[in-house]
Amino acid sequence: MMTMVKKIALVTGANKGIGFEICRQLAQQGMTVWLAARNLAAGEQAAQALREEGLDVFALCIDMDEASSFDAAFDLIAQQYGFLDVLVNNAGFANDWSFTAADVPMQMLRETFETNFFAQVALTQKLLPLLKKSSAGRIVNQSSALGSLTLHSTPEANMGDMKPFAYDSSKTALNAFTVHLAHALRETKIKVNSAHPGAVLTDANAYGTLSVAEGARTAVLLATLPDDGPSGQFFHLEHALPW
Ligand SMILES: NC(=O)c1ccc[n+]([C@@H]2O[C@H](COP(=O)([O-])OP(=O)(O)OC[C@H]3O[C@@H](n4cnc5c(N)ncnc54)[C@H](OP(=O)(O)O)[C@@H]3O)[C@@H](O)[C@H]2O)c1
Repeated sequence: MMTMVKKIALVTGANKGIGFEICRQLAQQGMTVWLAARNLAAGEQAAQALREEGLDVFALCIDMDEASSFDAAFDLIAQQYGFLDVLVNNAGFANDWSFTAADVPMQMLRETFETNFFAQVALTQKLLPLLKKSSAGRIVNQSSALGSLTLHSTPEANMGDMKPFAYDSSKTALNAFTVHLAHALRETKIKVNSAHPGAVLTDANAYGTLSVAEGARTAVLLATLPDDGPSGQFFHLEHALPW
């Protein structure tokens, strides 16, 4: 009898919001999910809640502003499994939305890029050797339509005055990472894509209209793409978005 090896997934920023729900939906598909949180106690509580639903979910600590936590995460997954099938780079934040490109303080711009861009690249690079050992590695970068330069510069897209420069440009940079990493990995079995979850009601977005269950769907679709699925693209659900 053939034994199926369970897929292993890691989702960052998963103690609440969309990331928590991505963990639930991946585990509901039979994966073992590592729920990463910078506050391990909050992560443990969240993982426990999902285990009570019968799901295979465990917590680990990843603070996107603390590179030593990336090393610890690598060691844990390497020792337990020696491979990683899915990485969802979901952790992210938006600073004060009132600052535009004309007045954003440099410190705010740097802090936002540090978490939403540099740390995403660093964590992904750290875990890449494990993803390369997967038979079907999937990397999902949790982006935003606000990172799309095409939508911002297309009047019909109705992006209006929604232009918090630090957040938006950090997601544009994350999208650049998607395109470049997909190209760098084109000869491997790894697929890399950006997700826009939609406007989702969470602590980060009081005006969101979608539930976290709906918001998680795009990342889950991209994390479970078939072998002939796309790589190096940007999606909301099944719809490709412009860069
Ligand atoms: N909600 C939306 O409408 C929307 C739209 C487009 C894109 N997104 C993106 O979706 C992702 C999830 O957002 P959300 O709406 O679910 O927000 P959320 O409920 O505020 O969750 C954000 C998660 O990221 C974590 N996080 C933030 N900074 C971190 C850091 N430096 N290190 C480790 N973890 C960190 C938070 O941890 P703590 O609990 O410790 O703060 C939390 O777990 C983000 O990347 C966001 O930009 C959201």
